Amino acid sequence: MNQQHYAHFSMFPMSMRVLYTSTLIVLGIGYLFAMIHIFSSHAGRDGNPMLSVDDLIIAYSGSKTDTKLESALNGPMANMLPTEERNKVIAWVRSGVSESEYTSNGIDEIIGKRCLTCHNGKNPHIPNLKGFENLSHVTEADTGMDIFTLVRVSHIHLFGITFIFFIVSTIFSHAYIRPLWAKCIIIMVPFIAIILDIGSWYLTKIYPPFAWIVMGSGALMGVAFAIQWVISIYQMWFYTLPQEILDQGGFVSQKVDL
Ligand code: HEC
Repeated sequence: MNQQHYAHFSMFPMSMRVLYTSTLIVLGIGYLFAMIHIFSSHAGRDGNPMLSVDDLIIAYSGSKTDTKLESALNGPMANMLPTEERNKVIAWVRSGVSESEYTSNGIDEIIGKRCLTCHNGKNPHIPNLKGFENLSHVTEADTGMDIFTLVRVSHIHLFGITFIFFIVSTIFSHAYIRPLWAKCIIIMVPFIAIILDIGSWYLTKIYPPFAWIVMGSGALMGVAFAIQWVISIYQMWFYTLPQEILDQGGFVSQKVDL
């Protein structure tokens, strides 16, 4: 079988361990930033500052009670304006988005001052908020992320996350872990999780409780990443193989494997 004579980290030359370690450190920092991004783009949509399943439901399938403008103002756009102005805009939305109050209540000024530097229509990926007509598109019922955005984000995630876990798991495959099936499960979990995660984005639109699977598979991916990262770094620098494997020159043979 192929797993005969699989080299442990301790068999690697120093240069390769330095390469693997550097790669893991940068990917680890990348993972932290990815989590900060998830948090800052989803948390708070439901009015509660922590990241919750309700935030994910609003992000993917929309909200029965809030408009897109309101969930953005409670979530990712919350820091763009002072609370007082935010409440004023939210009150205006709740009272029925009246065009006359748009000017008489100074909503146009707030949007002009706080939002139009970015939402001026130049960036096609974010809504244009210039004028009452454009603003009223985000004060309609919030139906969540549209299918085109989901498709765009799906293919980026499927490719990107597969690359990341291919690299991390290839490094991790040189760790010594028994039983062997446990090691194989740790390697497989993130690949299964990414499929469940992305599939559930679409399913959450149809049946909101799928947001639990989005949350759960994201957590599984994070746990698998952390386990692979910690074990790889630990075994690369601080770990001594069991004596019977050292006796075979450090190679893990089929006899010991099975
Ligand atoms: C510094 C640039 C910037 C400013 C200022 C800004 N936004 Fe945004 N806005 C963005 C970006 C980037 C996105 C898309 C990314 C995201 O959804 O997190 C976005 C997304 C949105 C969305 C869509 C959210 C969704 O779920 O699709 C709304 C609505 C919104 N902003 C409203 C506002 C309002 C209202 C203000 C002013 C109070 C504002 N933004 C100020 C950059 C900005």
